[in-house]
Amino acid sequence: MIIGVPKEIKNNECRVGLTPKSVNVLSKNHKIYVQKDAGKAIGFTDQDYQDNGAEILGAASDIYEGSELIVKVKEPLPEENEFLSSKNTLFTYLHLAGNKENARNLIATGVTGVAYETVTADDGSLPLLAPMSKIAGQISLVVGQYFLLKPNKGLGTLLGAIENVSAREVSVVGAGVAGTEAIKKGLSSGAHVNVLDISQDKLDELQHSFGTDNISYILSNTDSISEAISRSDLVIGSVYVVGKEAPKVITKDMLKVMNPGSVLVDISIDQGGCIETSRPTTHDDPIFIEEEVVHYCVTNMPGAVPLTASLALNQATLPYIEKIADLGLNQAIKQDEHLANGLNMANGEVKHDSVNTALNT
Ligand SMILES: NC(=O)c1ccc[n+]([C@@H]2O[C@H](COP(=O)([O-])OP(=O)(O)OC[C@H]3O[C@@H](n4cnc5c(N)ncnc54)[C@H](O)[C@@H]3O)[C@@H](O)[C@H]2O)c1
Repeated sequence: MIIGVPKEIKNNECRVGLTPKSVNVLSKNHKIYVQKDAGKAIGFTDQDYQDNGAEILGAASDIYEGSELIVKVKEPLPEENEFLSSKNTLFTYLHLAGNKENARNLIATGVTGVAYETVTADDGSLPLLAPMSKIAGQISLVVGQYFLLKPNKGLGTLLGAIENVSAREVSVVGAGVAGTEAIKKGLSSGAHVNVLDISQDKLDELQHSFGTDNISYILSNTDSISEAISRSDLVIGSVYVVGKEAPKVITKDMLKVMNPGSVLVDISIDQGGCIETSRPTTHDDPIFIEEEVVHYCVTNMPGAVPLTASLALNQATLPYIEKIADLGLNQAIKQDEHLANGLNMANGEVKHDSVNTALNT
């Protein structure tokens, strides 16, 4: 199969779909085109790619036109859609429910789209979403503390306790993969962490891991979220329901109970955001203030650590890319029901039930 790796063009997006090491594995049986400078910003030179068996092409259009399987990181931007057609299979994050207009335009190209974020595993986990969720969860504490600093428009607090000054509170709403990393970072920074989830099993499991020191486990509903966020300097939203638009678990009205200068990090923004007042932001301009609360809503948080993120992503995606390239997509999804769950669109039609529901509501 011919596999193409375009350079990402989203704001501050230096991750790359294939590392030179992955190219080395795939190029034994397949032809790989990599766009010029696709990995340059993270130290993967064109020479590295060539040494591992890739051919470098200058223009994005040549990559898309010449390749059957396109391996990317982020959903195509409108200017990338024009290169796509029913001849291509796209393997990348798609987050179709997060931006419905983009989604409809992408579907209209006729491209076959397999989305990392809906590929499943036997235990119900999401193996291709998880590595980026782990990274976003860790980053949420870093940026949360940064924007709590007074010069950065925040409340002016340090999360951990200092001698006789008590620790501050952090609330994590949605305690899956991203939320769990945020909890770990919150605890290690010395904050008191409120963990909110709709799943009691999840809360029990986390209590088993993290104990009860400096941490509270709370079944999530509107009242319990309002109560927890009224006491928190930092609130992290990390809910996810596979393929669906994120439920708005924090409404504009609920923000009135928060202290001015408190910080919200809406990790779920790539699925439309779990906070009513959220709107997508970029690494260049990551925050805005609404209801006197700082909102951080960057849709590609792992783009801040593109080297770590590209290595982690490739570790997870490579076996699936090999399977698609070796067998062809049709055979690969026949053999692997979990990869089949990644199929979001083909020939101008949505092929995933939750995504279909999200796009039609
Ligand atoms: N912004 C970014 O750059 C970035 C990067 C990576 C992941 N993400 C996003 O982060 C989100 C979380 O991903 P994940 O891998 O941690 O998901 P996950 O499936 O592991 O966890 C989601 C959790 O949300 C809980 N949940 C669902 N509905 C809820 C509700 N109404 N109230 C409270 N909890 C609820 C679930 O029980 C689950 O524990 C996803 O939307 C993902 O796309 C964003």
